[in-house]
Amino acid sequence: MLPVSKSQSLGPSRAKWSNPWAFILATTGSAVGLGNIWKFPYIAGEHGGGAFILVYLICILLLGLPVMLAEMLIGRRGKSSPVGSLSVVAREAGSSPLWKGVGVLAVTTGFLILTFYIVVSGWAFSYITIAASGTFTGATAQQIDDLYQVLLSDPIRLASWSAVVIFLTMFIVNRGIEKGIEKASYILMPGLFVILLILVCYAMTTGHFGEGLRFMFYPDFQKLSVDSVLMALGQAFFSLSLGSAATMVYGSYMPQHLSIGKTALWVAGMDTLVALLAGLAIFPLVMAYGLHADSGPGLIFVTLPLAFGQMPFGTFIGTLFFIMLTFATLTSTIALLEPSISWLTERLRISRFQACAVAGLVVWVLSLGTVFSFNIWADKTVFGKTFFELLDYITSAWMLPLGSLLVALFCGWVMARAVSASELNLSQRAYVLWRASIRYVAPVAILMIFLNAIGLNPF
Ligand code: TRP
Repeated sequence: MLPVSKSQSLGPSRAKWSNPWAFILATTGSAVGLGNIWKFPYIAGEHGGGAFILVYLICILLLGLPVMLAEMLIGRRGKSSPVGSLSVVAREAGSSPLWKGVGVLAVTTGFLILTFYIVVSGWAFSYITIAASGTFTGATAQQIDDLYQVLLSDPIRLASWSAVVIFLTMFIVNRGIEKGIEKASYILMPGLFVILLILVCYAMTTGHFGEGLRFMFYPDFQKLSVDSVLMALGQAFFSLSLGSAATMVYGSYMPQHLSIGKTALWVAGMDTLVALLAGLAIFPLVMAYGLHADSGPGLIFVTLPLAFGQMPFGTFIGTLFFIMLTFATLTSTIALLEPSISWLTERLRISRFQACAVAGLVVWVLSLGTVFSFNIWADKTVFGKTFFELLDYITSAWMLPLGSLLVALFCGWVMARAVSASELNLSQRAYVLWRASIRYVAPVAILMIFLNAIGLNPF
């Protein structure tokens, strides 16, 4: 094993974030997205609210946060693409270069997520035009629902909007770290926060805020199945963008003096805050308009528009909201594409431009599978799931936890203690907690969930 000093830096020198906030905002931008504003409220709604949210918060704290530290740690230590970083760090630990397979898995997961992410992000784009045209004003629940169904049933419209999303993503990623990703995050993230706060304030005026609060925070454990726990874990990893190489690749652009612990706390904190705020903005409206919180994926595209149609300045606020939702998804699609780009440029020695062009095109073609799941392939199911549902399930319930499990094992058992301690630079107590989680708690918890998923109930 190599001797380790604090200033030692392995791998080639590479682009860097220009300041700590750039990294925090970009990583928060990766974390905050459809997972928080679209998925979290509807999954929580389907799984009974409070009890699910409690399990979710525990998953974030006990499993998500430590794994996030681990990903940043690998990235900053390796200073390469996720695949390169794992192989650099494994070599440093005197271990097998096969560990880079974890990087391949993570990059692939992010890539697959991107193929369905751009489709749903495309819905948000399309809703900007629908909202801006004043269509929501005074519309009935039925009319609003029809808008959504008509959009989903039209493959050409869906594929065109996904093309817009992937094109914008390629454009920004192609401009590089400082000029592209950083700049985009500076504009998009603060905007999202402001709009969400406005919506929460609006939700407070509906007279159903208490009901929404109760739904979110009253833990009814009878509604909590083992399946819900699996969902909560998958959602925690999905929401923090773990197991999909984004945090690793962003960490590789992190300057040495930045504290990994503090940054990760900021990111996890803001991500969770946005998910909870989104719930607080949405559930009271759901209740005020007599809709059901367990209406599934349509929650945000049906319920919110209905509210916008009733509220003063609804057209303006609604348009703004969907603009901001697209901003939130864009910072995520950027982070989903970047790991593949960094790997392609490193591996094939092609330019960023070439890598963006090729990867973007492949993502768009694969996204057609998701597009068709909502119309011409809607009745083609495997295990009762459409192509989109299957892709979402395989990535969130299996690949993300598996990637995170391997990252945890790698940092906990393969990497030398001296390396992780010097790189993380935490207080003694925090380091001991982190190490306990990464060596024992996280792997055991993820394994139990896996056993359950393949039908061997560990409980
Ligand atoms: N965290 C994102 C969200 O909540 C989704 C996501 C998962 C992601 N893995 C990612 C985003 C990797 C960017 C990069 O919507």
